[in-house]
Amino acid sequence: MVARPILILGIESSCDESGVALLEFSADSNRARVIGEKLYTQISIHQEYGGVVPELAAREHLTALPLLTDALLKEVGYSLSQLSAIAVTSGPGLKGCLMVGVDFARGLALATELPVFGVNHIEGHCLVPMLDNPELTFPYLALVVSGGHTELLAVRGVSEYEIIARTGDDAAGEAFDKSANLLGFGYPGGAKLAKLADATRSDAEWSTKYQLPKVMREQSGFSFSGLKTAISLLVKREGESLSTRRGEIAAAIQESIIEALVDKVTQVVQERDISRIVVTGGVAANRRLRERIGQLSTADGSGVRTFFPTLAHCTDNAAMIAYVGGLRFTRFGIPSKESLKIRPRWGLEELSV
Ligand code: KG4
Ligand code: ZN
Repeated sequence: MVARPILILGIESSCDESGVALLEFSADSNRARVIGEKLYTQISIHQEYGGVVPELAAREHLTALPLLTDALLKEVGYSLSQLSAIAVTSGPGLKGCLMVGVDFARGLALATELPVFGVNHIEGHCLVPMLDNPELTFPYLALVVSGGHTELLAVRGVSEYEIIARTGDDAAGEAFDKSANLLGFGYPGGAKLAKLADATRSDAEWSTKYQLPKVMREQSGFSFSGLKTAISLLVKREGESLSTRRGEIAAAIQESIIEALVDKVTQVVQERDISRIVVTGGVAANRRLRERIGQLSTADGSGVRTFFPTLAHCTDNAAMIAYVGGLRFTRFGIPSKESLKIRPRWGLEELSV
């Protein structure tokens, strides 16, 4: 008898992206394929406020999630009755936004009697490279770099994580965005700063022009707040001439943030027996970071294989949530009610099966 495929609907609403995705797992493997996914980004709504307004974000999710789900199911020709389970982000993230997503999922579950999994958003970022790279297997080192998180962890299996380092203040994406803001880019400016940096940079030329502080050298984690202070002083000092030097400054900022990340990863790769590295989260879209991580090698000079999610799965998306839900469903079965508890702060070390 052929086993019925497992169909998981994923729902993401932890910040300013409303996402839904439908994934199909074969019953006997970790592998899944994306049947369809939809994302509604709220960036244009929050832009005029210079950052995400939690109340507005929650209201947008409330409107968007039912419409996106309906449109997705129609587009791919599936109905709710064919699903095996629903997975929804239950933390970490903005409380009101998480509540909207979880309540929407609970409503769908009430109507369909399907099991619902509350999924940790960071676990989604950590595991989605496996969805996108079928040749990637456990264990691996994961650098999670997003707007809200910067963590380096050993991923040994689903729910088997060891946090090696994390940021003591800003996240890497936040450092990109705040620096971009100081340079006059609109919110969120991280990707725009990176684009200008790439267009300007002629190798290491920037480093002789702008000395930005070495982020984090002697600390066990990451810290980006010193960089922010240095940039605001630099911007003041440049005054009128800032507009002509923006490209060089952007390149220096990008290099400084990436140097901090690559330094820490290099140290861990040299200390431990690492053969696979994953970089994930919004900042994993950064071209220069991909290039630098791709150049890493182990202490004995042997190469390290590097993996990234597709660009669409670097930033927030629902496919990663459906993927974690499916992996948990096939491994651990139906979740307890506890899994739907909203956890605005929820470290991976607190995860339970
Ligand atoms: O993962 P994500 O969508 O949201 C969170 O979970 O936080 O990441 C968004 C972050 C933003 O800070 C954005 O500026 C940054 O990722 N980002 C980039 C690039 N593309 C997005 N940062 C640097 N270079 C990029 N190309
Ligand atoms: Zn995220």
